[in-house]
Amino acid sequence: MNKKEAALKILKNKKLIPKKNEGKAFANSNIALIKYWGKRNEDLILPNTSSLSISLNNLGTNTIIKLAHKDKVILNNEELDLNHNFSKRIFNFIDLFRDKECKFEIKTYNNIPTSVGVASSASGGAALVLALNDLFEWDLSKKNLSILARLFSGSACRSIYQDTFVIWNKGNDINGMDSYAIPLKHKWKDLSIGIIIIDDKEKKISSREAMKLAHTSSYYKEWPRKVESDLKNIIEAIKQKDFNLLGRIAENNSLFMHKIIQTTKSPFNYLTEKTELIINKIYKFRKEKKIPIYFTIDAGPNIKLIYLKEFEEEIKNEFYLS
Ligand code: PMV
Repeated sequence: MNKKEAALKILKNKKLIPKKNEGKAFANSNIALIKYWGKRNEDLILPNTSSLSISLNNLGTNTIIKLAHKDKVILNNEELDLNHNFSKRIFNFIDLFRDKECKFEIKTYNNIPTSVGVASSASGGAALVLALNDLFEWDLSKKNLSILARLFSGSACRSIYQDTFVIWNKGNDINGMDSYAIPLKHKWKDLSIGIIIIDDKEKKISSREAMKLAHTSSYYKEWPRKVESDLKNIIEAIKQKDFNLLGRIAENNSLFMHKIIQTTKSPFNYLTEKTELIINKIYKFRKEKKIPIYFTIDAGPNIKLIYLKEFEEEIKNEFYLS
């Protein structure tokens, strides 16, 4: 099965010409505490391992799709050329199922910086799928919305949900029909994520490209087993509300992913000198102030702090959070 067949399987018996003029949606971004890194199927975006994320409440993407005379993409109030990578990504996705006669104007707005490893592709992909579901009145189940979002971008399948924690089960089906996200029933209101933007320029190597090399690192052999045990342990930490355990696992999982990225046959380092400085500052702050604070880093230099609300003031003062 290829991507088009997978999308059409999800949309079987659904209208492919919208009856209304406009569809809209908001999707929150998500930050993986247990990372997705490496695919078993590039076209269907099927991961080698499961992953677990925390949802960012009000940070994410708003998308409005309107029927129009010609295709148009407006990102953060700026019209993009249709040859721009972002426009191509969107219309390549919509071309999987649209009737040739249907043209769309897509207005999408991120209230988080785009392409800086703060997961705007996750909320962007999920908001696009949710807005399409609204426009076409597909009324898809969350499971099918998550599969469709996965076909846009892996991490987007987790942004279909607003629940605190979301797990993307890797699945085993060759066509990926069992590879989708589900929410975890446990909540944790006091758990916070703070974002330290070190560099807001577009990243040089996308996670999609970097991930292709993962299997060439000797550390990647350990990754599936590590993810399995990290997942089991972090779910236990969530159930027990054991913050230090959650933080340690998340921090270590993210550093392991970066170790893989740094040791492929074409090694790359997303972490800059400034990232390293802040990592050391976090270690020092944790040790000296005895304040539990941990971090996770995605495919970019920026740092996401993980902490409990009760320490927010001290942490904000120390790290000037965005
Ligand atoms: O779904 P993508 O292609 O944006 O890749 C996401 C990769 C990480 O953010 C590094 C990890 C993750 O699970 O979100």
